Amino acid sequence: MSTPFVVAIDGPAGAGKSSVSKQLARNLDFALVDTGAIYRCVALAAREQGVPLDDDAELKRLLDTLTIAFEMSEEENHVFLDGRDVSQAIRTPENSLAASQVSSRPVVRAGLLGLQRRLGLSSPHGAILEGRDIGTVVFPDAQAKFFLEANPEIRARRRHRELLGKGVEKPFDEILAEQNRRDQDDREREVAPLKPAADAVVLDSSTMPLSQVVSTMENRIRQLMGTSKA
Ligand code: DC
Repeated sequence: MSTPFVVAIDGPAGAGKSSVSKQLARNLDFALVDTGAIYRCVALAAREQGVPLDDDAELKRLLDTLTIAFEMSEEENHVFLDGRDVSQAIRTPENSLAASQVSSRPVVRAGLLGLQRRLGLSSPHGAILEGRDIGTVVFPDAQAKFFLEANPEIRARRRHRELLGKGVEKPFDEILAEQNRRDQDDREREVAPLKPAADAVVLDSSTMPLSQVVSTMENRIRQLMGTSKA
């Protein structure tokens, strides 16, 4: 039996990874694994169970008890934590901060490797995994690797617009400053820092509409699938 085709899409927050991954998964009929949502689930479970975000022993115990699953509906990739749909609950500002904290703990990163790999290989056809370290750590042998970036102002402007769409008014400068802090944390952490894999195709969505990013990636994936079948 041939192994599923794994696509790694890494990059900073706000570069467009989620929109692009969703569209690609739909076009290619691939599973979609949002690894940021997995870190967010761990953060939510820790907060709900009163586990301190820097207590490695307790975090490890927690990881062993969690069940995390994805289900794609028409519009959204739903995330289930122990059978409960937490797609909204994991995206609050408090939980985003907590997710960033738990994602810097080596015990959490190591504990989530198996789950991410299992989910990536669970679809017979193929899977898109989006995150920060998919091409470098989770699937260093992924058949296709992309690193999607965009300049910080453009990413913060997208986030600003997205929040306004949800009725949340937050000053642009504050969003940009928080984003810069998160970027710095992601890039400078010791374990699995955010960086392009040596063999990743780097695309910049500041200079390219997302529809073009999708078609560029899709063409490359289809080309690689064709050659990998030979
Ligand atoms: O992509 P996101 O904003 O939903 O990710 C939530 C947090 O998890 C963010 O702080 C970065 C972190 N993360 C990570 O460290 N490694 C991944 N593969 C995915 C996300």
